[in-house]
Amino acid sequence: MNPFLIQIPLFPEQASSFAFEVDLFYLFLFALTGFFTVLIGVAAVYFLIKYRRRSRGEVPEQIEGHLKLEITWTVIPFVISMFIFAWGAKLYYQMYTPPTDALEIFVTGKQWMWRAQHPDGQREINELHVPLGRRVKLTMTSEDVIHSYFIPAFRTKTDVVPGRYTTSWFTPTKTGTYHLFCAEYCGTQHSGMIGKVIVMDYPDYQAWLRNVPRDKSPAEAGGQLFTSLACSNCHLENNTGRGPSLQNLFGKDVKLANGATVKADEAYLRESILNPGAKTVAGYTNDMPTFQGLVTEEQVAMIIQYIKSIGPRQGAAAPAAAVPATQGVGRPAAPQAAKPAAPQVEQQKQD
Ligand code: CUA
Repeated sequence: MNPFLIQIPLFPEQASSFAFEVDLFYLFLFALTGFFTVLIGVAAVYFLIKYRRRSRGEVPEQIEGHLKLEITWTVIPFVISMFIFAWGAKLYYQMYTPPTDALEIFVTGKQWMWRAQHPDGQREINELHVPLGRRVKLTMTSEDVIHSYFIPAFRTKTDVVPGRYTTSWFTPTKTGTYHLFCAEYCGTQHSGMIGKVIVMDYPDYQAWLRNVPRDKSPAEAGGQLFTSLACSNCHLENNTGRGPSLQNLFGKDVKLANGATVKADEAYLRESILNPGAKTVAGYTNDMPTFQGLVTEEQVAMIIQYIKSIGPRQGAAAPAAAVPATQGVGRPAAPQAAKPAAPQVEQQKQD
């Protein structure tokens, strides 16, 4: 509990670094609204009585205006609303600007469940285990319709939209189990699209990570997809292939054929996998088939993790996956032929 605010029993617990300020802001708006409601209500009743009709046929004095009064009731609300705007914008900016050193977890929404994948390959459904006090960034997308990832105790809610990545981040400040809701009507079982967020002490979190049956890390699985989908046939390391090299690409600026420049971030890579013609790299023609419908969002995310792992080293980068041996230049295998192998569950136990 924070020292300034009595915990209001109607509110969910405050379990993230945002929670206190969001509540404070909310209470400020609530108090402000209450203050003006009372002020206006009382004034209305007072004037109603004071200026009531006293005799039949009474003609009241005509008042044309009062400049000082009008300026006052314009300037004061203006200052108050600008203060609300500034505070709200600051809070919004903080909540929607994820830090670069965060623990990255990939989340997929699907009618009607939440899947999460941790950087080392642990997966979970309708649960999210996170370490106490660590910044956590969720990169999210949907396999079907719009969902919304809502953790009331963290005061974070972000839409999860098919066809794009959205991010959410938080720092859990209290161990415990909290509600996870879908907050966007998404079909019959929308109300059942719920789960748990479990905040653990770091040692407990480490123990949890070790005990969860682990898939390959997303980067490793992505590296395998990169070979099995024949991406490696064209995207050669030494840049002599039909497609540009993807080594050291992530986070860099890319010159496009139309003269524009784009940053090689998650959204750009995702678009280039699913809609290769959208942004063709300068010096290349678009020969790449689309992988729309051939790979799931989770597999796209794995391929992106792989590209990250061969890119410039990140702060807390996933362990670099083995770079698949590049093969000679050849026609890319038709994507249908290379059926994306579902990442196999490896029952690895680490001690
Ligand atoms: Cu998913 Cu509502």
